[in-house]
Amino acid sequence: MTTESSVYNRIRQLRNSINEHNYQYYNLSQPKISDFEYDQLLKELRDLENKYPQYADANSPTQRVGNDINLEFEQHMHRFPMLSLDNTYSKEELADFITRIQKIVNEDFEFICELKFDGVSISLTYENGILIRAVTRGDGEKGDVVTANVKTIKSIPLTLRGENFPPYFEIRGEIFIPLASFEKMNTEREEAGEMVFANPRNAASGTLKMQNSSLVAKRPLDCYLYNMLGENLPFSNHYDNIQKAGEWGFKISEYTKKCRSLEEILDYTNYWENHRYTLPFDIDGVVIKVNSYHQQERLGYTAKSPRWATSFKFKAEQVTTRLISIDYQVGRTGAITPVANLEPVLLAGTTVKRASLHNADQIELLDIRINDTVYIEKGGEIIPKVVGVDKSKRPEGSEPVQYISVCPECNTALIRTEGEAKHYCPNESGCPPQIKGKIEHFVSRKAMDIGLAEATIHQLFSHGLIKNPADFYDLQKEQLVNLERFAEKSAENLIKSIRNSKQVPFPRVLYALGIRYVGETVAKKLAQHFTSMQNLMEANADQLLEADEIGEKIAESLMNYFANEKNRQFIERLRLAGLKFESEKKQSSGTGRLNGKSIIISGVFENFSREEIKELIEHHGGKNVSSISSKTDYLVAGEKIGPSKLEKAKELGIPVISEIEFMQLINL
Ligand code: IVH
Repeated sequence: MTTESSVYNRIRQLRNSINEHNYQYYNLSQPKISDFEYDQLLKELRDLENKYPQYADANSPTQRVGNDINLEFEQHMHRFPMLSLDNTYSKEELADFITRIQKIVNEDFEFICELKFDGVSISLTYENGILIRAVTRGDGEKGDVVTANVKTIKSIPLTLRGENFPPYFEIRGEIFIPLASFEKMNTEREEAGEMVFANPRNAASGTLKMQNSSLVAKRPLDCYLYNMLGENLPFSNHYDNIQKAGEWGFKISEYTKKCRSLEEILDYTNYWENHRYTLPFDIDGVVIKVNSYHQQERLGYTAKSPRWATSFKFKAEQVTTRLISIDYQVGRTGAITPVANLEPVLLAGTTVKRASLHNADQIELLDIRINDTVYIEKGGEIIPKVVGVDKSKRPEGSEPVQYISVCPECNTALIRTEGEAKHYCPNESGCPPQIKGKIEHFVSRKAMDIGLAEATIHQLFSHGLIKNPADFYDLQKEQLVNLERFAEKSAENLIKSIRNSKQVPFPRVLYALGIRYVGETVAKKLAQHFTSMQNLMEANADQLLEADEIGEKIAESLMNYFANEKNRQFIERLRLAGLKFESEKKQSSGTGRLNGKSIIISGVFENFSREEIKELIEHHGGKNVSSISSKTDYLVAGEKIGPSKLEKAKELGIPVISEIEFMQLINL
């Protein structure tokens, strides 16, 4: 029986729990439950509050839209509040929505069906065709001004194409990271020892809130626009205005469809529910909007959302199954990844037997135990992940997982460095998967590009022909021809491609060594700064830290690597084999007057383009940097330089010189 006090208790419980989830989601970017579960809690609370108005509270989480305000950004009041959309997970409710609208409008009408992009919403303001401001949703009434960051997104026009755009308007849309770019970015982050993002949406929202827009520029953000607001819009309906926006240079969705009946809307919804994973980006549902502005006005708004639109949200594809056991995989750098072996289960069209468990912290955080019933989810990523445990189904007497303490492959005691999520097997030169992994990495396309299949590598390894990548350069054709899978021709080809690899440029050779945290980008930076293997090997920690983008973690990893006698012998063998150990020399007749100087340029120049000035700096021995720090030697200031850069330079006491003074400096 429901008594009044048990209702109030439930309301309080729901409010507490939603507040906690809001904090996890908005402040920590670490949601603990799925959107679906969150929406269910909110719906239950909203229904109870409607039914028992005596328990209403102005501070209930139902009374506000989420908040993404970050106090380090300037705030801006939205001229038109940024509302959210009503949402439903049920097709019946979707049908009710359509019937309600039919009743109220009672004339011919059209719906526009769109994808619901799973990213971060943004509002862009254009004055006379120029982007003047980009603001996040914030609390719906005011948000963070993130213009500098948004300007780095290539698909957002800074000035509009064509003409006939209103002198003032706002356009809103969703900033997101495409799946392929997200996976690539996470791989690079993992290689560089940085934290990986849980999903593309977290990555996009984290990126948008970064303080340094030159770092934002390196992240693969993209943006679809789907809502236009203003007084003098060209058309009196949503669809035509958005198409027009496409002509002005905005990226608009090609997956939008005009629908006239519930049937067509359901077709669209069902199609995308089944095909969402074929898209190159994440969506979490579809949005249905009344097209005509006139009809939109008649339907009006509630406090939080328009009555002329709704969203149908897809459930995250989630199933439960039993966790049979945990395997521990050893990667090329010795990093241990726990992998769940599951009772096979169908998820999003494929049978899943294994799922990622990430690391020891994750297992502890979710309190995952053997024989537990676990939730498996498939996001956009290829490998499904375990996202939670149904504790009500936990068998009696189960024990927390004892994470392994020795390497499952070579029995060496594992280590875990303070502040790092993963355990490592330190036995680099004796642990078979690490050796094989290093060989695979060495021959890979972006490294030495010796085209070799994984199976062939294993074959060469198990025959004892290749025990370490330097052995490739001693390999003779005669040793290969007798092996299974090899014939005269294929043996010859392999020897030839090994020989060709001696022409691979130095940065790639450095990358091929497989030093922890030295990914492609870091290898390039190191090669640029130190120009030769010799210089790099002789550098001490301070000198390493002076190079662009090299932090403590990478410096320490390099020092450890070069301190190891076995690694030095390995490098020596590669040197004797004739690999490139020096950067290609640029012909230089520079004055060297800027040797060792870090210089930042800003603004527009009279005699040179920005690129030309940058080249001059390098030519005369200087280094271009993109943000001011106490290590910067000069700020070369052109016209229209932003006040914040000048202020920062002043604050740090960095000399600000004009274009002319710069020319005098290099004797031009
Ligand atoms: S229209 C007044 N269209 O969903 C309604 N929103 O809860 C304005 N979203 O904050 C929004 N795809 O970030 C609209 N095609 C789409 C959308 C979309 C994603 C997001 C948006 C908004 C949230 C609504």
